[in-house]
Amino acid sequence: VLSASLYTRGHWKCCGNVFLSFAEKLLVLTVATEETDGFLRFMQSANYFNYTVKVLGMGEAWKGGDVGRSIGGGQKVRLLKEAMEALADQEDLLVLSVDSYDLIFAGGPEEILRKFQKANHKVLFAAEGLIWPDKRLADKYPSMRSGKRYLNSGGGFQKIVSQWNLHDNDDDQLFYTKIYLDPLQRQTLNMTLDHKCQIFQNLNGAVDEVLLKFGTDRVRVRNTVYDSLPVVVHGNGNTKMYLNYLANYVPNTWNYEHGCSHCDDDVMDLSQLKFPNVFVGVFIEQPTPFLPEFFQRLLTLDYPKDKLKVFVHNNEVYHEKHIQKFWEENRNVFNSFKVVGPEENLSQGEARNMGMDLCRKDATCDYYFSLDSDVMLTNRQTLKLLIEQNRKIIGPLVTRHGKLWSNFWGALSLDGYYARSEDYVDIVQRKRVGMWNIPFMAHVYLVKGSALRNELKERNYFVLEKLDPDMAFCRNAREMGVFMYITNRHDFGRLISTANYNISHYNNDLWQIFENPVDWKEKYIHQNYTRIFTENYLEQPCPDVFWFPVFSEKACDEIVEEMEHYGSWSGGKHEDKRISGGYETVPTDDIHMKQISYEKEWLHFIREFISPITLKVFSGYFTKGYALMNFVVKYTPARQAYLRPHHDSSTFTINIALNNKDTDFQGGGCRFHRYNCSIESPRKGWSFMHPGRLTHLHEGLPTTNGTRYIAVSFIDP
Ligand SMILES: *[C@@H]1O[C@H](CO)[C@@H](O)[C@H](O)[C@H]1NC(C)=O
Ligand SMILES: *[C@@H]1O[C@H](CO)[C@@H](O)[C@H](O)[C@H]1NC(C)=O
Ligand SMILES: *[C@@H]1O[C@H](CO)[C@@H](O)[C@H](O)[C@H]1NC(C)=O
Ligand SMILES: *[C@@H]1O[C@H](CO)[C@@H](O)[C@H](O)[C@H]1NC(C)=O
Ligand SMILES: *[C@@H]1O[C@H](CO)[C@@H](O)[C@H](O)[C@H]1NC(C)=O
Ligand SMILES: *[C@@H]1O[C@H](CO)[C@@H](O)[C@H](O)[C@H]1NC(C)=O
Ligand SMILES: *[C@@H]1O[C@H](CO)[C@@H](O)[C@H](O)[C@H]1NC(C)=O
Repeated sequence: VLSASLYTRGHWKCCGNVFLSFAEKLLVLTVATEETDGFLRFMQSANYFNYTVKVLGMGEAWKGGDVGRSIGGGQKVRLLKEAMEALADQEDLLVLSVDSYDLIFAGGPEEILRKFQKANHKVLFAAEGLIWPDKRLADKYPSMRSGKRYLNSGGGFQKIVSQWNLHDNDDDQLFYTKIYLDPLQRQTLNMTLDHKCQIFQNLNGAVDEVLLKFGTDRVRVRNTVYDSLPVVVHGNGNTKMYLNYLANYVPNTWNYEHGCSHCDDDVMDLSQLKFPNVFVGVFIEQPTPFLPEFFQRLLTLDYPKDKLKVFVHNNEVYHEKHIQKFWEENRNVFNSFKVVGPEENLSQGEARNMGMDLCRKDATCDYYFSLDSDVMLTNRQTLKLLIEQNRKIIGPLVTRHGKLWSNFWGALSLDGYYARSEDYVDIVQRKRVGMWNIPFMAHVYLVKGSALRNELKERNYFVLEKLDPDMAFCRNAREMGVFMYITNRHDFGRLISTANYNISHYNNDLWQIFENPVDWKEKYIHQNYTRIFTENYLEQPCPDVFWFPVFSEKACDEIVEEMEHYGSWSGGKHEDKRISGGYETVPTDDIHMKQISYEKEWLHFIREFISPITLKVFSGYFTKGYALMNFVVKYTPARQAYLRPHHDSSTFTINIALNNKDTDFQGGGCRFHRYNCSIESPRKGWSFMHPGRLTHLHEGLPTTNGTRYIAVSFIDP
């Protein structure tokens, strides 16, 4: 097929950079039947350079072939022919005919005029780089080592399109190619190709040749093979994603000096506006740590709750209790709250289709907000910030804490899976801040209801071949030409890890200290813990007995619950098979951390949260947090109410109160004999830390009513 060397194979939409005749004035003609995202981007780059653009065919029904939404085919040539006829008397006009859905300008009209003049022909077509070495076609192509030529204005292009007498769905590409490869016509029309990408850069087959070139105000692309700076960049063939990447920078979308220059264009002013109705689809597709906290964040989003309808797909029986609890406490908070549970046996794709379709079918639904249960939105403004950006599809960047793992891909591999783009790390780490047109996102995103009812009006976007549902959705969106943006303009939150989530315990999040340390800390460490270091927020009620907050209420409650759930209290007997020697001189009624498989996690807690305090109060003493005896003690008048004076087999001991005096028990406390010093009002979540031997003989004071729980570790025995 002859056209292969002139243009991309396939559809007209991939080709068609036609360019005619020298003059002082440049007119850009483009055919576009719809204002797609790509078209708006084209216009933005054209306006930036002050091009004069005439758009042909807007609003016309597309007849140019089965490519559906793309411009192209014979209809396009017919429209150009009509437009050129109207311009017939404008002899000094240079006409640039380009596609617009997948094309941007990287330079201005003056540069095109200058380069065109240098090219010394009347008609210049874009060339496609990699086909150039094709021998069979090379024979047919004229040598481009042309001498100096005199240029004049004329109607070469008009002459070409005026030959058009075919149908709207005929192949325009073949039409131009035939003309070009006919030596007589080529000469008469004075036609040539832009072989060295001086003006036109087709990306198909040339992705590896093209790099970004950052300037102070403007970003260009550089063709590294011809060392040229092309003016017109065309994402033909399968290179639309690469064009999207380039257009995240070119011509002035983002640069190092000024950052993002279009981020505040076309934004929606929510302060003036009634808040749009948002349909929130929540997807719990696997056991997910910190689900109650996830729902709390949904509840505390800064958005009018009566504008939110919530749809929850819960695939896990394990989470039914969490959802039930949330629903009971908040049943009237949202406009509506609907749960589809595991008994429905929906696949993930079906569930996501169902959620999205609820918005699509509801004409009052302005936005669909899809939110997976592993997204911790720490920014309460997230929904507002996304709506304000006014895009068809936009997601907030969320990342796994301390990792490069995030909810978007900057590029795709040939088989459609993850590939790392040059800017991926900078975007994840927020070294480049802006809004990024990307090929894949998941976990959390906002879609306009109007887009769901137009471009994305099919019902089953999440089911496509054997693709995972998110990949299916993104591929569909790409194919419909709807841009997907990820914004990292704010810190929105993080992705938690659902890997290794063992749900065989009672309060399983307690075990998440390794997998999700940030969420673990947030949930289980006392709110004022860090003040120990910043404000010396700790007390010394007895000599060398330090007292400080360490556990949150939740930590205390869940540890007690976990122990009671396990239930095998030792009974406070001297004989104890759990310890070496089998005999305990000062036994307590207790359960060891080891018995509930919590030893590893507990020791990590000591290293992370106790060791720094040891270093502070016993200056110079560094503990590796080694401890054999880690246990929860239960004091209750009916079983064991107190503990007689004793030393601990530790260098130092921590003793954390797990419940409240007066509400949960009476009595209790601790007395240090050497100093005649008692602490009679232990505080829930606060820990004592004291030397274990020699100086700190101590006893557990009687619990007179109720049940008192403490967690104890003998550290560095
Ligand atoms: C486009 O025109 C405006 C208004 O005349 C001017 O300020 C701006 O510099 C021009 N842009 C370029 C890229 O030449
Ligand atoms: C047209 O192109 C040829 C080279 O292919 C050149 O010799 C000639 O001067 C050009 N200009 C005109 C006006 O014919
Ligand atoms: C759930 O659906 C899967 C596949 O759709 C099927 O194999 C399975 O038997 C179903 N389970 C129940 C309990 O209906
Ligand atoms: C989950 O924890 C239980 C109890 O500690 C243990 O027996 C089981 O092997 C764990 N499962 C996995 C998959 O780690
Ligand atoms: C932390 O300290 C502040 C101020 O002293 C206090 O109001 C707050 O209740 C403390 N937080 C907890 C969880 O005790
Ligand atoms: C211990 O302190 C209490 C008051 O706190 C006091 O009544 C008692 O005499 C003291 N005992 C000794 C041995 O100093
Ligand atoms: C013991 O606690 C229970 C409930 O916590 C309370 O009703 C009772 O009065 C308490 N007894 C004493 C002697 O304080």
